Amino acid sequence: MKRELGKNGPMISAIGLGCMGMSGAYGQSDEKESIATIERALELGHDFLDTADFYLSGHNEMLIGQAIKGKRDKAFLSVKTGMMASPMGYGAVNGHPDYIRHAVMHSLQRLKTDYIDLYTIARIDPNVPVEETVGALAELVAKGVVKYIGLSEASVQSIRKAASTHAITALQIEYSLWTRDIEAEVLPTVRELGIGIVAYSPLSRGFLSGELKKPEDIKDNRAHMPRFQGDNFYRNLELVEKIKTLAVQKKCSPSQLAIAWVLAQGEDIITIPGTKRIKYLEENFASEKVKLTQEDLQSINAIMPFGIASGTRYPEKFMGILNK
Ligand SMILES: NC(=O)c1ccc[n+]([C@@H]2O[C@H](COP(=O)([O-])OP(=O)(O)OC[C@H]3O[C@@H](n4cnc5c(N)ncnc54)[C@H](OP(=O)(O)O)[C@@H]3O)[C@@H](O)[C@H]2O)c1
Repeated sequence: MKRELGKNGPMISAIGLGCMGMSGAYGQSDEKESIATIERALELGHDFLDTADFYLSGHNEMLIGQAIKGKRDKAFLSVKTGMMASPMGYGAVNGHPDYIRHAVMHSLQRLKTDYIDLYTIARIDPNVPVEETVGALAELVAKGVVKYIGLSEASVQSIRKAASTHAITALQIEYSLWTRDIEAEVLPTVRELGIGIVAYSPLSRGFLSGELKKPEDIKDNRAHMPRFQGDNFYRNLELVEKIKTLAVQKKCSPSQLAIAWVLAQGEDIITIPGTKRIKYLEENFASEKVKLTQEDLQSINAIMPFGIASGTRYPEKFMGILNK
């Protein structure tokens, strides 16, 4: 299934592949299996591959570079920039034009390509006018190094300013059954401006798959996330149990129901479930066959209305860099 990303934007797969988990975000990964997973996505005609230069300091881009060797034309590369790592920690935002110009050269090198399809500012730098950051990306478009520009987790004000500087093709943002914040303001704004949505973490970082049973089992980054901790975990698990029952009735997996729900929210939305395994990839891609009726959507909505999840979606430190 293909969808147009943004008004007059490219036609790309409605379900893409989020590659972040291949570089340490969700536990150990195996490089061979990760590369095979990316190759399988392309083989199945799912072209949208999402990465960032800061996913394990370029490791993720290098994996993609290997996987797309000889088949660059089959892939639509979505790369984020503007977040930095340092020995003191991760999460500093940098939207300076010089930094963007520098970062893109490194991404091209690691991806072994001479252009990026969609280049996205991962977080808006409050110390740099967004028009300047987008202006730097616009120069890259003029040079032919970047085809389309994206934003991620930006406020409505920044989205409007950015769109008045250069055409913005997509907004990458968390959107799932239990993260529906965008429905209030962001979604109506991007629709007005003709900007597509790239919905990330559609499985709520794996929680909606129903495979996580207790907080103690989580040994990766998710252990720092409030929704995966203590009482929040168990309250959220109760919701997932109800989704599982619905999935049985629909003869699909809970993950497929969650992905189908995101796709049912509008033709202007694509989604990028993340996995490092072919098995999950194939299951997730098959979600496009799950058709949800109005009745299904109402039942899902009754279980997971806006704002139902317990706990914030990021730890406090990272909540502060959202919506700028
Ligand atoms: N713009 C941003 O700020 C931002 C933030 C976060 C993520 N992203 C992007 O969005 C992508 C998707 O986000 P995400 O990785 O958090 O997505 P997600 O799909 O919500 O969660 C991924 C987790 O779910 C597990 N999983 C995937 N399919 C499954 C299945 N069918 N059954 C059981 N478990 C399954 C994965 O396991 P395995 O790891 O074992 O395969 C992984 O632990 C990322 O890869 C990244 O590219 C962007």
